[in-house]
Amino acid sequence: MTLQRLLDMHASGDKIAMLTCYDAAFATLLDEAGVDVLLVGDSLGNVLQGQSSTVPVSLDEMVYHTRCVARGRKSAWVIGDLPFDSYQSSPQEAWKSAAALVKAGAHMVKLEGGGWTAPVVRFLVERGIPVCAHLGLTPQTATMLGGYKVQGREEAAAALMKQHARELVEAGAQMLVLEMVPSALAAELTQSLGIPVIGIGGGVACSGQVLVLHDMLDVTPGRRPRFVKNFMQGAASVQDAVLRYVAAVKAQTFPQDDLHGY
Ligand code: KIV
Ligand code: NA
Repeated sequence: MTLQRLLDMHASGDKIAMLTCYDAAFATLLDEAGVDVLLVGDSLGNVLQGQSSTVPVSLDEMVYHTRCVARGRKSAWVIGDLPFDSYQSSPQEAWKSAAALVKAGAHMVKLEGGGWTAPVVRFLVERGIPVCAHLGLTPQTATMLGGYKVQGREEAAAALMKQHARELVEAGAQMLVLEMVPSALAAELTQSLGIPVIGIGGGVACSGQVLVLHDMLDVTPGRRPRFVKNFMQGAASVQDAVLRYVAAVKAQTFPQDDLHGY
């Protein structure tokens, strides 16, 4: 997988299948099942560490898991999440953190938020690190957003998200994750931005989909968000569940906007 191929998939409407991944064994399994992009998400704070948010996750922990995934993958694109307090204070800090993830094997880094992040994205991209932006529900700042809820429902909020997305693309972001965003708004952004838009609770019109691995394998304890589907249901094995996820994303039978969307 290459960045150009991902951009081509977006342009031609071939859907991109992404899952989170935190270790080498799953990296190999997911890669062989045809998952296009492995996201070493800071959601590992929740699913691996048992924390109630992603905020305590450290850069060293992200580096460790990125290394593990990089050893297991064969052809999938690897995105490393910049954790909370690793890119906020300056573009220089963001560079050091992003470079650590790239040295660990990430092909691209992801960071959350709009507005202030555009100059940070430009700083990284100009110096040679591809960046995926993340708008909508941004878990690192969920407290500021008033909890885990849909973002961009009101007109002013939607307009601000569109502005932030345009600024991020102008700054050089080459992918965008939209989390818990109304399907109509996500569809509009996917049509207009010219880069792949990956939805998680963003509707079926996005260029691709991402889920937290443990959520779609139904091993996350407790209540699941609306956008999660249990792919273990009816599957013969973990591998079969992942194959079904990839097939559903490609065929656009997942997500179903009436079940998983906003
Ligand atoms: O950390 C993560 O798993 C993520 C996805 C939810 C997009 O950022
Ligand atoms: Na994340």
